[in-house]
Amino acid sequence: MTFLTFLQERVHDALVSLELELPDGFVPQVTVSQDLRFGDYQTNTAMMLAKRLKMSPRDLAAKIIESLAVEGFASCEIAGPGFLNFRLLPGAWGEKIAAVLNDPRLGVEEVFEPKNLVVDFSAPNVAKPMHVGHIRSTIIGDSLVRVARFLGHKVIADNHIGDWGTQFGKVIQGWKTLLDEKALEENPLDELLRLYKTIHDATKSDAELEQLCRDELVKLQQGDAENLKIWETCVKLSKEGLQNIYDRLEVSFDHWLGESFYNDQLEQTVNSLVEVGIARESEGAICAFSGGALPDKKDPFRVNRDGEWQDLPMIVRKKDGGFNYATTDIATVDYRINEWEADEILYVVDARQAAHFRQLFDLSARRGISTKMEHIAFGTINGKDGTPLKTREGDIPQLETILADAVTAAAEVLEEKSGHLPTDEKKALAEAIGIGSVKFTELSHHRASDYIFDLDKMVALQGDTAPYLQYSYVRVQAIFRKLDALPEFEKLQVNITEEAEIHLSRMISRYGEILPAVMDGYKPNTLATYLLELARSFHSFFEACPVLKSEGAVQETRLALCEATSRVLKHGLSLLGIHAPERM
Ligand code: ARG
Repeated sequence: MTFLTFLQERVHDALVSLELELPDGFVPQVTVSQDLRFGDYQTNTAMMLAKRLKMSPRDLAAKIIESLAVEGFASCEIAGPGFLNFRLLPGAWGEKIAAVLNDPRLGVEEVFEPKNLVVDFSAPNVAKPMHVGHIRSTIIGDSLVRVARFLGHKVIADNHIGDWGTQFGKVIQGWKTLLDEKALEENPLDELLRLYKTIHDATKSDAELEQLCRDELVKLQQGDAENLKIWETCVKLSKEGLQNIYDRLEVSFDHWLGESFYNDQLEQTVNSLVEVGIARESEGAICAFSGGALPDKKDPFRVNRDGEWQDLPMIVRKKDGGFNYATTDIATVDYRINEWEADEILYVVDARQAAHFRQLFDLSARRGISTKMEHIAFGTINGKDGTPLKTREGDIPQLETILADAVTAAAEVLEEKSGHLPTDEKKALAEAIGIGSVKFTELSHHRASDYIFDLDKMVALQGDTAPYLQYSYVRVQAIFRKLDALPEFEKLQVNITEEAEIHLSRMISRYGEILPAVMDGYKPNTLATYLLELARSFHSFFEACPVLKSEGAVQETRLALCEATSRVLKHGLSLLGIHAPERM
């Protein structure tokens, strides 16, 4: 049990033993103290209940303390208007560290009610550049999948790739007239992208070509055999190319149900929307309109233009009879609920699609769907000049290039620091550090904020970086290598006394409280920031409390702290999808 839950239960027991009349289902809130001067944990329970119980908050707090069974475990004081502050006693820390060393879950409990979670992430588009949004989605989505699974949820990772967009008119036209077979074999993603871009650029000043592309698209949609074959090949090659990138990132999916998978359900989807009166014909198209139950300001189907509220319909069937992104997403919701019994669907997608998801969620609720759906939105990645990241040519940088650059930068740092290591090992390390740096930079920022992509900073050994954490782990391993023999960690006697030992214990034992918090608000940066704090407190401990030069019981305790730190660091990094190398 985490300290937090333990204290929560003790406070609850105290209230019950006082025979106070509590509101139904009342659960006392205990939180981690933001300022260590006020102890480790605190609760405002007395302040919450005082008025209702017609007592002063401080009097109620005093009564709670009298009945509180925490002796030998924590001290408790009343502070300010009626807070209860708890400070854990050294013995409690020692027990906790010993418990962590004997628990493969490192003090993290499984959730009480596991859910069927669908995580929709990455989802790039075939033959279109995988842009910065897809990079962020891939990394954030993957770490949410890892954390949720570890917490005990049943997670389905689904890559909803854009394999049926209007881009195929241009791709097919390019395939028929410009294809370079050799280039396609060497790097299919690049060649498909080149076909798309060349034709796309040319159509800007060539109306005839534009029409040809549209014709190719219509032929594809009507099932023309040749075009279908080209489309199939493009999707297959594209998936293979993407798979290489995912392999390098160690990201995996349970399904790749792209947009095309839902094609044969779209007609039925639109019909059912019309039947229940959510959608109707408008200017030749079929559109979903406002349900009318929300005030304009809150209604995703209403928009204010020039001071006037107007309809903002969602087109579900275009004038030409074609279906679109929105229609597909509606059908996708049904599939995930019917086939996978989804309790929750998380869409890890660019913040710029917020309006689309607000409409999708509102429309789903009106269709009687109660499954929880969340748009896990994120901002953009900027270059050092503060504007969205781009290559020297002004293009959107490709994920492959970004990874390659990061690995090269990591190799340079490594050469300087550890030039003596064998070449093979250096290569593997550069990969772990380079890729880890890209991931950690992403995951250490609040997803809603933009961040600056600065390779030199990302791969530096000092700072809020992956290599700093990886190096911290390595440092612990280096200590162990200097021992004559490794102790049996599970049996170590842990006796915490020094301030730096207490603080490190505090950080280690928070792991079990931090991980569930990642899923509140779906913020992997909660974990990333925690790992940085853990590493910092390890370094302070290491400065203040010699390990190798200590002896007997003192050394035993310190070795236990080193081992617990290293296990939590390695585990936490793995949930961010980052490796912890044994040396570097
Ligand atoms: N392919 C889309 C894009 O690149 C993202 C898809 C996200 N998922 C979804 N169900 N809409 O913008």
